[in-house]
Amino acid sequence: MLMRHGTRGLARSLMGARLSSANTGLVESMGGVRWRSTLTLGESEKEHKEQVVVTGSGGNNNEHGGSGNKDVSSYWGIKPVQVKKDDGTPWKWNSFRPWETYQADLTIDLKKHHVPTTLLDKLAYWTVKSLRFPTDVFFQRRYGCRAMMLETVAAVPGMVGGMLLHFKSLRRFEHSGGWIKTLLDEAENERMHLMTFMEVSQPKWYERALVFSVQGVFFNAYFLAYLASPKLAHRVVGYLEEEAIHSYTEFLKELDKGTIENVPAPAIAIDYWRLPADSTLRDVVMVVRADEAHHRDVNHFASDIHYQGQELKDSPAPLGYH
Ligand SMILES: [Fe+2]
Ligand SMILES: [Fe+2]
Repeated sequence: MLMRHGTRGLARSLMGARLSSANTGLVESMGGVRWRSTLTLGESEKEHKEQVVVTGSGGNNNEHGGSGNKDVSSYWGIKPVQVKKDDGTPWKWNSFRPWETYQADLTIDLKKHHVPTTLLDKLAYWTVKSLRFPTDVFFQRRYGCRAMMLETVAAVPGMVGGMLLHFKSLRRFEHSGGWIKTLLDEAENERMHLMTFMEVSQPKWYERALVFSVQGVFFNAYFLAYLASPKLAHRVVGYLEEEAIHSYTEFLKELDKGTIENVPAPAIAIDYWRLPADSTLRDVVMVVRADEAHHRDVNHFASDIHYQGQELKDSPAPLGYH
């Protein structure tokens, strides 16, 4: 208790606020941010009546979590990082940094295809093809909505594969060959596709419900598939990426025909792919499609490694392959 009271005094002096305990949890409340004790129930109730700890650092509230957000004073010494762009203007994104951005390689071959020959490959191919039919029926030609919804699924396999390789590395006391990072990077890249497309298409309530259900099913299905056969799991993703390339090509056709308005590119896309300031949605679809082609290569390559009787760690991972 003495220690705790001592800490409390220090926290108060550091933060200029009524912070009660070093062992705190952060919860949002009534539009502000409140520090809540997790030590004891009695104390917890008491703490609830205490303070709101927010320093208003000014600026607009940025919906993307950008630099306009209010900064929370931290007993832990964690300060908001002031990041600047190359031109010296403030970096507005908290979710990624300038050094994580890149220029997509648009010269990548979009037509490459792995011809399924083995039974496992045919299973992967026809699984993906059979998923295409209900997807086409559901979305018709609403490619903006389709892209946004499918990216919620596309970001799952990299995370599952990366997670399973992470645990395997721990279990077996062995390196991963860089594949954990490669797969987690893929998941993050797909999530950035989602963050981009939700700027131009807002999900309706039943679409949100669908994503909720599909995520539950697909996560578990892919998790089990990866445990049973990483060879199959990566091949499935390779074919999913081939379908994604096709979808984005159709998206581009609709943009060129004018049936989908070629609106200005979202700011997040301009910064993430280092696009010119006057870029449009068409430019964004082009770089996203190039990303999908890279994912296709990585996943077919991963499956091929397994086909050759090796484990992923035996072949250096294509780190930073964009
Ligand atoms: Fe994607
Ligand atoms: Fe992808």
